[in-house]
Amino acid sequence: MAKPMIVCHGGAGHTAKDQPGVDAAADAGWAILSAGGSALDAVLAAVEIMEDDPVLNAGTGGRKRADGSVQLDAAVATSDGRLGSIMAIEDTPNPIHVAAGLLDQPFHILVGQGARDWADAQGYPNAKVEGSDSPSGNDTVGCVAIDEKGSMAVATSTGGCTGRPRGRVGDTPLWGPGLWIDEGIALAATGIGEEITIKMLCHRVAIQTGTLQQRLEYGLSLFDPTIEVGLIGITVNGEGQGLANTKMPWAIRSANQ
Ligand code: GLY
Repeated sequence: MAKPMIVCHGGAGHTAKDQPGVDAAADAGWAILSAGGSALDAVLAAVEIMEDDPVLNAGTGGRKRADGSVQLDAAVATSDGRLGSIMAIEDTPNPIHVAAGLLDQPFHILVGQGARDWADAQGYPNAKVEGSDSPSGNDTVGCVAIDEKGSMAVATSTGGCTGRPRGRVGDTPLWGPGLWIDEGIALAATGIGEEITIKMLCHRVAIQTGTLQQRLEYGLSLFDPTIEVGLIGITVNGEGQGLANTKMPWAIRSANQ
């Protein structure tokens, strides 16, 4: 039996004032894991809470595009090789659940109005997302978890970067840069999406050897320190942590923490 654990983050560049929403997310995910629930259910519950928190850049708090619209990206993946990803969807308060709906479909990535049309057909809530007028926002929320069976999951969600064009997609829903999972490690990134995408961050961290701390440090070393970047990770060996080159609220829950 594996040791269940969950790690959540509230976005690179966010400060301690945003810690309560991250703690609430970790607590909700941990309640599921400690009751014998799945890593997938835990990361979805945790990210839903962060999407509902107006101070975090995801779901309800999604930052506005240059034209004032709120377009959201989200992804979820599991250590048994499933992926669901939604990009630039509108009118969707909890895009993480639409992404999860793609895990067992013959297609894994949907974009824009096509994503919303599919969500409508499946009955996912369609409601205007007011979004946040915060002038800053390059960040994301994310969560990784392992359950008692040793299955892992990762989930990410964002409103993108404040003021970017409509249709722009950052790293958050991208398999490789923004999230990665295999049988040994689950990773989620946060920060400036263009930089993280160019570096193929999460995949490059995953293929490093060493401790989780060493692998996360390697990932951050790829960036100029002026570029805000953060990572969270969990390994099948029982390691779990967050690390950033800037402030980043994060939380870990396990039987020992
Ligand atoms: N990391 C979030 C974004 O760049 O969209």
